[in-house]
Order: sequence, then structure tokens, then C-alpha cells
Amino acid sequence: MTPPITSIGLLDPDQVKSVLGAAVLAPSTRNTQPWRFRCTTAGIELYADPDRALPVADAGQRELLLSCGAALFNLRTAIHALGAHPATTLLPRRDTPTLLAVVRPFAARKPDRRLVRLADAVPRRHTNRTPFEAAVIPDTVVAELRHAAEAEQAWLPRLDANQLDRLRDLVHQGHHAQVADPAFLAEWRHWTTRPRDSRDGVPEHAAGAMPPEEWILGNSGSPRRGLVDDSDPLVVVLGSFDDKQADRIRAGQAMQRVLLTATAAGFDASFISQPVEVPAVRVQLRTLLGGGLWPQVVLRLGRGTPVPWTPRRSLDEVLLKPDRLSA
Ligand SMILES: Cc1cc2nc3c(=O)[nH]c(=O)nc-3n(C[C@H](O)[C@H](O)[C@H](O)COP(=O)(O)O)c2cc1C
Repeated sequence: MTPPITSIGLLDPDQVKSVLGAAVLAPSTRNTQPWRFRCTTAGIELYADPDRALPVADAGQRELLLSCGAALFNLRTAIHALGAHPATTLLPRRDTPTLLAVVRPFAARKPDRRLVRLADAVPRRHTNRTPFEAAVIPDTVVAELRHAAEAEQAWLPRLDANQLDRLRDLVHQGHHAQVADPAFLAEWRHWTTRPRDSRDGVPEHAAGAMPPEEWILGNSGSPRRGLVDDSDPLVVVLGSFDDKQADRIRAGQAMQRVLLTATAAGFDASFISQPVEVPAVRVQLRTLLGGGLWPQVVLRLGRGTPVPWTPRRSLDEVLLKPDRLSA
């Protein structure tokens, strides 16, 4: 049963439900939804759910933190759109490392229309793995994407043609390392072949019944087309300046701000995670970026054909009881 939801700060119970509903629409690796929330009179707490980690593809739980960071950005943005300031503290208690953030919606704030636009985009954002049109994303939108990353203390470096070529090699290198590992494939299958009524995992209608290479590289359904042909107008790497737990939560917020900025501008995105999921390849990608940034996410941006939404667990499943102190 859902724990009773009461008012928190300026938000009435329905508003608390609606901001939690926005938070859980965040993207998460393999749609694991590795988050829990606890509502207290002091604020909304976000917990990592280590039981939903991917021990093979994400042994360091880096992507788990990115996913939770994305949920946190949705939560903050939804609170902001309701006219409250989402005062946020990351990792507030050393003795509870799963408690990633607490958000306190206590002070009124005139909504910033740019953030309201992003809040409106939350339910429209879906990972889109269909082929993208050969239409170039305008420079003004690229500038908005860069600004979105910087506003959340991350960076979208400009990649030249040589770097993009090298990135393509790293994608293949990461991919081949992953598919050669039976444990990776078993974990991948576990999350991509869920029962029809499952509320988590990547359903067939979103991923397609494709083997891993096509699914992961799958711009065009053909792995031969690579990453930088005409149908791939923009491939970006989002980097952070350090790689500690808080940096990864911030990078997840930046990733979500970039994704929602793209959605609001009418563009789609999908993830190309092999070069950041395989540690030895990630080191090479870091060098490729000049050595100063930690690569966190590689995204493909463009315009695909509409895709349906993927399922989410209900609030019952993600809410901790108010008296429970840790996830
Ligand atoms: C950190 C991270 C890494 C991801 N990596 C991949 C990936 O390598 N390939 C892919 O197709 N989708 C990837 N995804 C997308 C998720 O599968 C997707 O967010 C999830 O299935 C929920 O669907 P939605 O984004 O449409 O809401 C990733 C998402 C996150 C947050």
C-alpha cells in the first residue's frame, strides 16, 4: 500500500504526488528504475536502490547514480514549475550513503519559463532508437544543449571529425568486449526480455527484437552504417570535472537537462553506452577528450519516428515508509 502522502512545505499532497510522478519518468539504464523516495515533513528524500544495480554492465554503480540524478532533475524541475524553490542537498548524511539527496520545497519562487518548458517536456521524452532523419540540428539548439549541461556543472565538448571517428572505434571496441562476456549478455537479456506486464526493463516495442549489436549501435538498424554518417546529425559526450559520487549525481542531472532541452526543441535522443560502460575503453575516451573530463554519457541526437513510452513502477513500489530510515 502507498504510504500516506502529506503536504511538504509549499506542496499539497496532490502536488507531492505529481512531482514524484515526474521524477519516476526519468530514463534509467535498462529501465531498472534504481530509485526510492521517502517523504518527510522536512522534504523529499531520494535514495539509490542498490538491489536494482547492474553488477556486470555497471559494476561501479556509476550509471545507477546517473539515473538517480536524472530523477532528481525531474523532481527539482517539477517543483520549480509549481512555484516553489527546490532547495537541494546532495549526500546529506555520511552514515547513509544510499541517501543521495533531499529536496526541500519551502520557499516560493516565480517559475523561470525555461524550466517550465523543461518540466512540460518530461512526459514527452522517450529514448528513441529509430533511424534519425538526415537533418542537421541548428546551431542555436546545439548552443542550448551546451548551456543545459553547463547549468548543471557538466560539459559537452565539441568533437571534431577525427575525434568522432575515433569514438566510433571505441564504440565497437566496447561493444565487442561486452558481447564476448557471457555474464554481460545474461544480464542484458534479463532486463530486455521481461514478461509483457512487467513494470521495469526495456520492452520489445522500445528496443525491438534485435541482437545486442544492432540494438546498441542501432541508428539505422544496420551496424555497418556507423556513428557519424549523414543520418547521425549529432553525437555528444557529456563529461564531468571529477568522478566521485556527487559528480555522478550532478552528471545525471545534467544529462536529463540536456535530454529535456532536446525534447523541448523537438529532437529525440538515444544512448550509446558501450564506450563508457567498459572501464578500459572509458579511459581511452577520457584521453580522447583531452584528459580533463570524465566521460559519463554518450548521446545520439536527431529526429526519429515517434516511439511509445516504456513502463514504470507505481509510486507504491518506489515510496519508502516515512519512518524507515534507509533504503
Ligand atoms: C545512464 C543510462 C545509460 C543508458 N544506456 C543505454 C544504452 O546503452 N542503449 C540503449 O538503447 N538505451 C540506454 N539507456 C536508455 C534506457 O534503456 C531507457 O532510459 C529506459 O529503457 C527507459 O526508457 P525511456 O528513456 O524511454 O523512458 C540508458 C539510460 C541511462 C539513464
